[in-house]
Amino acid sequence: MATTVATRLQDRIDHFYQDRVATEWGHRHILRGRDPAPDSVLLNSNDYLALSGHPRIAAAMTDALTGRSRIASGAFLHGEHPQLRLERALAQHLQAPGGILCQSGWDANAGLLQSIADPSTPVYIDQIAHMSLWHGARNAGAPVHAFRHNAPSHLREQIERHGPGVIAVDSIYSTNGSRCPLPELCELAEDTGCLLVVDESHSLGTDGPAGAGMVVEQGLTGRVHFRTASLSKAFAGRAGFVAADSPEFVDYFKMESYPAVFSSTLLAHDIAGLATTLEVIQQDDHRRRRLRGVSSIIRTALHDLGFDVEGSDSHIVPILTGTDSRALAVRDFLEERGIFGSVFCPPATGHHRTLIRLSLHASLTDAQVDRIIQACTDVRDHFGAVAA
Ligand SMILES: Cc1ncc(COP(=O)(O)O)c(C=O)c1O
Repeated sequence: MATTVATRLQDRIDHFYQDRVATEWGHRHILRGRDPAPDSVLLNSNDYLALSGHPRIAAAMTDALTGRSRIASGAFLHGEHPQLRLERALAQHLQAPGGILCQSGWDANAGLLQSIADPSTPVYIDQIAHMSLWHGARNAGAPVHAFRHNAPSHLREQIERHGPGVIAVDSIYSTNGSRCPLPELCELAEDTGCLLVVDESHSLGTDGPAGAGMVVEQGLTGRVHFRTASLSKAFAGRAGFVAADSPEFVDYFKMESYPAVFSSTLLAHDIAGLATTLEVIQQDDHRRRRLRGVSSIIRTALHDLGFDVEGSDSHIVPILTGTDSRALAVRDFLEERGIFGSVFCPPATGHHRTLIRLSLHASLTDAQVDRIIQACTDVRDHFGAVAA
């Protein structure tokens, strides 16, 4: 009998349940471990500056809940609307000529790549950059070329072969916490006539003066064409942002980017919360200092224990486990000791590149830092530091 579309889909679903859930994961879901206890150390949230539940932010959001939201695409907003005021404030914070709020970091990246690339503009993406960048480039019908992680020489070879286009990178990579060599990429983009897009999701708020990000910190604002960010990391909200190198890009994007024009925008309480969050982030240097301090202690300890932290130089620290089954065992072992990270497995990583991500944050106490290091020492003693 001919294979139907329905049977082909059923085969894919069966593959998920049989090969992954039953065989690799032993009839459990790899992303769902035990429930944390009240004294557990949670390293599974991107709230790096520990802002979720902040009283001023919560009060701003609560007040806005009784107001009215316009439920429509953001393309319709004009005049002195709070969302447009926040777009200007965020753009100013990032030292950018223009900015656009999006519903999520995914929508910022997908909408940006879709609206700046096209079938005759190749897109070059670091092999571990966020999936939303790939998705946007493919939606644009652009030829997409991966380059080796943090390897400008490989990127240059690709550009020489396929021609100038758009280069897309993350400032800090979400799976292993490594940093992009931004000055080298700016130079390469200038040399080859490419546009450069930097996703600052994991550096906005945490890095740079008053949390303005890595591009500002490294004095590269005039040399990076577009910056994007998820505001669901240090901003602890639910939104995304695009910082553009010209004010004219703002209205172009709002009409050309599919998520901007075909999907309704943020709600009044999102905007009110994010506006207050921006103020807190600008003021609270102590949160950034604490985050940097605990991150450095934990990275150094893991390195000394013999773990390969894959060049992590940030508040994201990976424990590489290789296979999904080893990740499950290490995850359970850590959770038994009250340490809760996040499993990153395919499609978020390559095959047999599964890892447990420790997302560090500013409210970790010294005692919790000691507990994390002790648990990692136990992992090393029990499983070895190097994934098989
Ligand atoms: C680097 C990066 N960009 C974009 C996103 C998407 O952000 P959001 O969760 O706001 O859609 C994420 C989140 O996973 C991310 O890590």
